[in-house]
Amino acid sequence: MNDPATTPSDAERTARYWGREDLVRVVLDALRSAGKDLDALSADDLAATDQFHGGGRPATLRLAELAGLHEPTADGTPRRVLDVGGGLGGPARTLAGRFGCIVTVIDLTDSYVQVAQELTARVGFSERVTHRVGDALDLPFPDASFDVVWTQNSGMNIADKETLYRGFRRVLRPGGTLAFQEPMAGELSPPHFPVMWADDESMHHVWAPEEVRALLGRLGFVERVWEYATESTSSGNAPPPPPHAVQRLIMGDEKLAAIAAANRRNLDEGRSCTVHAVFSRP
Ligand SMILES: C[S@@+](CC[C@H](N)C(=O)[O-])C[C@H]1O[C@@H](n2cnc3c(N)ncnc32)[C@H](O)[C@@H]1O
Repeated sequence: MNDPATTPSDAERTARYWGREDLVRVVLDALRSAGKDLDALSADDLAATDQFHGGGRPATLRLAELAGLHEPTADGTPRRVLDVGGGLGGPARTLAGRFGCIVTVIDLTDSYVQVAQELTARVGFSERVTHRVGDALDLPFPDASFDVVWTQNSGMNIADKETLYRGFRRVLRPGGTLAFQEPMAGELSPPHFPVMWADDESMHHVWAPEEVRALLGRLGFVERVWEYATESTSSGNAPPPPPHAVQRLIMGDEKLAAIAAANRRNLDEGRSCTVHAVFSRP
């Protein structure tokens, strides 16, 4: 049997899977090589580099539209958003820049949080977007402190979905909104590996859409939108990402090609799907 004192926790393993050494330098060098002026960066300059999910920024904007973030709030104050597993912060800066949201981002991976802070400062969003290291399964926020819980492609390493969604419910105010983009199981399982988030089944924790829906219903969430975004978010359908794309910087050329090939097969064989969904917390 493994000794718990020497066996990494799921969280440590996940952070190790995603984390990269010296990532701030790697990302800034890639942006410079792509012709970006590092002293005058805009959120638009970052679109290829900071949206770490299938479908890129268009998928973020689509989910925001489905969640109604373009509509004014009842009292005119900005929405307080928690982005769970927010990575390098691209979705958060998009929600702040396009919809005036005040966004708190939590992510397990320290090197991503460092990059996120650097990019947020460089585009001048530090007053609207804050980043911290933390675990989605243990959200360090008071009850009912957010209007929106947002998450894109971040739950796939998390086996304990009930604790995850209970936490989302706890930190949402009554009437608040849960919006997510999430890869889920297809008709056939398992998928071909590697997928972006796992090399094999040991870190692959995706549920079937109906299981997720049933759990959210049991927890009292009320479904507003459930939209399949499988085709538009699959890298099996997308052109190869540019050298400064986050996927390339994190995974490297060889692994990324293997992931795209596996994605293509998973798509063709119905072994995965991606959902855009919006729920209300009563
Ligand atoms: C594919 S990236 C998505 C990043 C971001 N949501 C985006 O769309 O650009 C997956 C992210 O989930 C984070 N993550 C995975 N498990 C987590 C957990 N238990 N708590 C917090 N973050 C987690 C990883 O650190 C990683 O940044």
